[in-house]
Amino acid sequence: MADSTVTEPSPPLIHLDPMGTDRHGEAARMRELGPVVRAVLPGDVQMWVVTDYALLADLAADPRVGRDWRNWHALQRGEIPGDWPLLSMIRLNNAMARDGAEHRRLRRPLIRTFTRSRVERLQPRIKQIVTTLLDDLPDQVGEDGSVDLRRHYAYPFPMQVICELIGVPEAWWPKFRELIDTVVRADTTAEEFVATQQERHDLWQRLIAMRRVEPADDLTSALLAINDEDDGDALTDEELEDTLWMLIGAGHETSISLIVNATRALLTHPDQLALVRAGDTDMWDRVIEETLRWDAPVGNFPARFPVEDITVAGVTIPKGDAILAPWSGVNRDPAQFGEDADRFDITRTSQKHLAFGGGPHVCIGPRLARLEAAIALPELFARYPDLRLAVDPAELTAVPSLFSNSVRSLPVYLGRPRG
Ligand code: HEM
Repeated sequence: MADSTVTEPSPPLIHLDPMGTDRHGEAARMRELGPVVRAVLPGDVQMWVVTDYALLADLAADPRVGRDWRNWHALQRGEIPGDWPLLSMIRLNNAMARDGAEHRRLRRPLIRTFTRSRVERLQPRIKQIVTTLLDDLPDQVGEDGSVDLRRHYAYPFPMQVICELIGVPEAWWPKFRELIDTVVRADTTAEEFVATQQERHDLWQRLIAMRRVEPADDLTSALLAINDEDDGDALTDEELEDTLWMLIGAGHETSISLIVNATRALLTHPDQLALVRAGDTDMWDRVIEETLRWDAPVGNFPARFPVEDITVAGVTIPKGDAILAPWSGVNRDPAQFGEDADRFDITRTSQKHLAFGGGPHVCIGPRLARLEAAIALPELFARYPDLRLAVDPAELTAVPSLFSNSVRSLPVYLGRPRG
């Protein structure tokens, strides 16, 4: 389904693998095709892709290019089915999907409540959660002697942090995990998509109603308190619900991937792990930044929409078309990171990645994501100094998703715990 008529020399077309099987290979192939290409997504929906790091950074900051899906002509024309599963990442009523003054109005309450001090206050609790998960890991070891670090460590951890931060009751966590998984998975059916929308709506409405009656020390209550201040930053219930959903979605899957990808990178690059062990704590920051560059948690992220025709590298992208941002792909652009951009190297001088996006929509969660990883990774490697992969790295399979860049499981042998 084309969403515009291209009049200039047609840009190269590439079918994206919705299962993300060879994400970095695919990104390299797109880059070889040119700085601006057309991609075919599941459901035959086409989007532009800007494959060049510098051009994508400029595009993200370009005021003529927004994220408001109401400007997507193909959607307006009814060419995108209302139950197209990827719409759950696009058709939102929160900051991610609004531009200009409306975007600022929706983002401001988050900036006001999700503050540096709120994140810093989480530190002891994050440490506790990590310690408990590490204590429990040996109980999760299977008959073959291995344990899946994704499932039993990286997966439960950020969800617990973000749910506690938002104030989601513990009994609901498994349900939220299931709902997020449904959104991220590439094979979600239209029926599942519709059911997910309804279920999440019901849960959020219950939480909002609960916190209205009885506020707690959490983000939901803080956002509701801002609503009461009547200073122009008030969110409607629908906006609040979509904002909380965005936080849980954005803060869960991405952080899991960061921890999994960093662990996998270190276990498959023993020279780099040795550098970390020999160095000071700064080395962990380097591991985190290099993982965000080399194996960014967000692969291809939909979508941006120009509000007027724009020209990128000599190619006109018409107003109202959709653009996909290949964040993990541009982080390996040799024009930005040199010919060894594909190498995991924690000592590289430039780690200026775009893993958190760019422009006015840049991620609001880097502080929390970095704090989580800065606790989870050193604690894991300190507790299990003999940690090693239980399978050949080539056997690790990708999370079946267009946007989430990680592996489905990370089987390891723990070895003898320290202390
Ligand atoms: C390693 C972890 C994370 C990564 C890699 C990541 C990545 C991203 C990316 C690529 C975007 C899109 C930016 C753009 O379109 O230019 C984004 C947006 C966003 N992220 Fe994150 N994120 C992470 C963690 C978090 C966390 C922990 C939170 C909050 C709890 C969060 C909240 C958000 C929000 C609210 C937005 C939308 C901002 C806007 O549109 O104004 N993220 N993130």
